[in-house]
Amino acid sequence: MKNVAVVINEFGTPEVLKLDILDVPVLSSHDVLVKIEYSTLNPIDAKTRQGKGWGATVIGNDFPAVLGIDFSGVIVKCGECVDQNLLNRKIVGWSKLGSKSGSYQTYKAVNKEQYIVLDPEIKLDQAASLPVAGLTAYQAIKSANLNVNDRVMVLGASGGCGHFTVQIANDIGCYVIAVCSEQNLDFVSALGAQEALDYKLASLSEQASSVDVLIDLVGGDAGLDALKCVKSSGTVITVPSITADEICEKGSEMGLNVRGMLVDLNISEIEFLLTKMKQKKIHTHIDNLYKPKSIKEAHSMLESSHTKGKLLLDMTTI
Ligand SMILES: NC(=O)c1ccc[n+]([C@@H]2O[C@H](COP(=O)([O-])OP(=O)(O)OC[C@H]3O[C@@H](n4cnc5c(N)ncnc54)[C@H](OP(=O)(O)O)[C@@H]3O)[C@@H](O)[C@H]2O)c1
Repeated sequence: MKNVAVVINEFGTPEVLKLDILDVPVLSSHDVLVKIEYSTLNPIDAKTRQGKGWGATVIGNDFPAVLGIDFSGVIVKCGECVDQNLLNRKIVGWSKLGSKSGSYQTYKAVNKEQYIVLDPEIKLDQAASLPVAGLTAYQAIKSANLNVNDRVMVLGASGGCGHFTVQIANDIGCYVIAVCSEQNLDFVSALGAQEALDYKLASLSEQASSVDVLIDLVGGDAGLDALKCVKSSGTVITVPSITADEICEKGSEMGLNVRGMLVDLNISEIEFLLTKMKQKKIHTHIDNLYKPKSIKEAHSMLESSHTKGKLLLDMTTI
């Protein structure tokens, strides 16, 4: 067993990402050892790599650190207190938030609160993005209390969280107004959006109005402009933490019900999303599958903020 990992030994640009061989984690009696096949790239990984946010605070000076939160793979060893029938089962899981031992590695020990055993018909690459991006979409929608026929605007609709948000809102029966750039208009329409708006064409406030709920996955000036499309006393969930205070303040001044959110990784809601996946109500669009040796290129793409669906690391191709 060789635990090949993508590590950082300092914070910085994508250049600080290196391949290394780490010890295979020691298994405690209640854990399983997973051989990771896919790790997902999320914007928080790039922020942590840059030395920003709580992820970087947790790492402090304790290098090497392994980035990455969610993963999918196969159980290759079970601790002595774990049901041995789990051996060889496929799972989707996540690293504990606040851990410096992430999912960009071949072997990882996880406990039963950190993974779900997959039904055979769910593909590992499809499941890998559900913890962070899938749950963020689902919890934003839940927090907004979306209902059938609500007019919901999704800002950042073609990205990781956005493409799940469009599909889940469409499944509820909402009227979905998806906002993205011109090259992704057909993509978001195919996901179920009734209207697809190009944010570069004109200010959003000139393109849409009377929105019941805005799910803002972009924040900043784009998020502030989108507030103008929301009807009086409508609801706004603004997801990027970095600009949430500014958008909440402006939205409140406008009389909107506006709040931020922090994703809560939990088993029951991922199981709900897996059921939707089995029913073919949602799927993961994989924009690109990178080999670990191409991690620098993958992170450059990640921080461009123009991902279409999700970026995955294929840990089987080391
Ligand atoms: N609070 C939390 O718990 C939490 C959880 C997950 C994610 N997040 C944050 O939520 C944000 C979205 O995450 P993600 O994974 O979906 O990111 P992502 O995959 O990088 O998606 C970015 C998307 O934003 C679109 N975009 C860029 N500029 C835009 C603009 N001006 N107007 C409209 N769309 C624009 C891009 O569309 P085009 O390519 O078509 O331009 C792209 O599809 C990130 O800031 C992330 O850090 C927060």
